[in-house]
Amino acid sequence: MDNFSYKNTTQIHFGKGQISKIKDEIPSDARVLITYGGGSIKKNGVLDQVQTALAGVTYFEFGGIEPNPHFETLMKAVEIVKKENITYILAVGGGSVIDGSKFIAAAALYPNDPWEIIQTYGAKVTSALPLGCVLTLAATGSEMNKGAVITKAETKDKLFFFSDHVQPRFSVLDPETTFSLPPRQTGNGVVDSFVHVVEQYVTYPVNGKVQDRFAEGLLLNLIEDGPKALENPTDYDVRANLMWTATLALNGLIATGVPADWATHMIGQEITGLYGLDHAQTLAVVQPAVWIYKKEQKKAKLLQYADRVWDLREGDEESRVMAAIENTRQFFEKMGVPTRLSAYGLDASIIDAVVAKLEAHGHVNLGEHGDITAADVKEILKLAL
Ligand code: NZQ
Ligand code: ZN
Repeated sequence: MDNFSYKNTTQIHFGKGQISKIKDEIPSDARVLITYGGGSIKKNGVLDQVQTALAGVTYFEFGGIEPNPHFETLMKAVEIVKKENITYILAVGGGSVIDGSKFIAAAALYPNDPWEIIQTYGAKVTSALPLGCVLTLAATGSEMNKGAVITKAETKDKLFFFSDHVQPRFSVLDPETTFSLPPRQTGNGVVDSFVHVVEQYVTYPVNGKVQDRFAEGLLLNLIEDGPKALENPTDYDVRANLMWTATLALNGLIATGVPADWATHMIGQEITGLYGLDHAQTLAVVQPAVWIYKKEQKKAKLLQYADRVWDLREGDEESRVMAAIENTRQFFEKMGVPTRLSAYGLDASIIDAVVAKLEAHGHVNLGEHGDITAADVKEILKLAL
């Protein structure tokens, strides 16, 4: 196991009815900006619960944060923060609303052009407004981590930043808020969580037994409960297990002391930026292709994955590896997330544009060995057609 230092400071309030805990978390004299997306929280009653919890506290609202949140939209919220002397941001929504709110929290106090936050990966952020979250979509882990992904619509640049200052102070995880998710977003959430786990697990062995078995447990939960959430969207226990699985998949815990890949996320991010596919759709397409391309280097972990996650013990090593990759692909398809670029109307003509964006962003030398070059990405995308 590699050396590591680990801290996670987000207070979690998990379970039904926990939205009421907001009142214990936010100071009564705060001036709060509630941030949200396209309006799902108005239809499913989550906004009502939040407003009830904030009774007696001064709050403002900013809606319209789109999926893959736009820098341009978020800067409008920053104006409100400054004009109304906001002291606390309360994000109510999925990963896009939470990520966007992390950016708002940092940008409001940033002395220079806020796009610099993204260009410097958050390294120059020295402060941010406090942020609390009410999560409504189990997927990204943003509710318990310090990362955010922001898109500049004007240039189609989708990029991430990290800062300790935007780590949520608290997050409410009430599984009932996810009952209203449409099947597409339920599927996306399961696939995104799954790929978060495997990007930190299907690398090379370092004898991190805790991390490996933890990762395998999370994957087994997703395989078991993901399809059940599609069949019965209001099954509380299913939603609860998926929600906690998604959070633990990307709150830094399983990343401790082990290598990480992230090539799939880096390539997928450019596909969303350029062509607007949902985040998880890009992952479902790219992940199997990365594994096929890198199957020799990843063999030890792919065999472990085949054995412990898919119970594949018959046949030679090559056939077990390929069967595990195929099972993964079928699982994504079962969750309603197609695994080929062609299913989204894309063909080989996108390959050069995706690679050009990766190069422009300096995102070359990907993967756990840093050896996936631009030329390799072209081959990977050919496998994803
Ligand atoms: O906008 P509203 O009306 O709320 O509708 C949203 C949106 O259309 C809807 N939705 C959310 N909760 C709902 C609901 N609809 C009904 N009932 C509910 N309870 O779902 C749609 C998608 O929402 P979005 O927030 O975009 O989805 P997700 O949580 O998958 O977030 C995706 C974003 O997170 C980034 C992605 O790149 C993408 O921009 N990621 C953030 C990460 C992080 N911060 O650590 C890591 C991830 O790898 C990922 O990159
Ligand atoms: Zn992701």
